Amino acid sequence: SNTEKTVNERLLNICELLETHIEYYNWVGFYFRNGDKEELLLGPYVGAPTDHTVIPFGKGICGQVAVSNKNFVVPDVSAQDNYIACSITVKSEIVIPIFVDGKNIGQIDIDSNTPDPFTEADERFLEYVCNEVSKILP
Ligand code: SME
Repeated sequence: SNTEKTVNERLLNICELLETHIEYYNWVGFYFRNGDKEELLLGPYVGAPTDHTVIPFGKGICGQVAVSNKNFVVPDVSAQDNYIACSITVKSEIVIPIFVDGKNIGQIDIDSNTPDPFTEADERFLEYVCNEVSKILP
């Protein structure tokens, strides 16, 4: 529908803004729950294309956030045993869940080529972004 197209354009604009203006945000994308299935689908993103367009709940950093409903900050991806590598240049990752009516419906996922760049300021800022995103979803 027109509504969904506009939402995806707005989500892509958010990805572009974040990737452009924060130098250590090198891949920025959204994953959303696929209906009632226990899997995530890749939404709008900016950065290198990834093969991981479908992620089962529990798998990787993203899949773990789908289950935990909590922020996940990874200062060093090489130290994670449940991690899905998308690019060899990635050193760190942050995933923040998106809630609608208290339900975890997706997340923003950011990869960085810089080791250990994410602070609590990133968490607070991205929580704000996710809360704004939750208001425009169809
Ligand atoms: N690294 C993620 C997979 C998604 S890519 O970063 C785009 C994970 O472990 O869930």
